[in-house]
Amino acid sequence: MLFDTRPKVSVHVAQTNETYLCANDESLLQGMLRLGRKGIPVGCVNGGCGVCKVHVLEGQCRPLGPISRAHVSAAEEAHGFTLACRVAPITPVQLEVVGKFEKPFRRGFTTAVNP
Ligand code: FES
Repeated sequence: MLFDTRPKVSVHVAQTNETYLCANDESLLQGMLRLGRKGIPVGCVNGGCGVCKVHVLEGQCRPLGPISRAHVSAAEEAHGFTLACRVAPITPVQLEVVGKFEKPFRRGFTTAVNP
């Protein structure tokens, strides 16, 4: 797409203080990735891993697909928690990241072994 003329709304990520424009027909995560931003952790990009879990503090989103109950309970969803890869913004959104990005290794971590 040479010129992206889709309507867009602003998305603000509290932890990184980043704001980016997201089209209203793409997920919050796709919009961030399209711009090369890194504020929301990225995993499967398909609703399966939960690392992109966010809490929408202000604004409204619409679902683009089912939200996995393994990662977001119905009670959490009712209080604004969702998966950034599964919702598109309707109005300007302010969110905070709550998903955990687990790394397989910790640098500098050693275990002392005394024979
Ligand atoms: S990136 Fe895996 S659930 Fe969103």
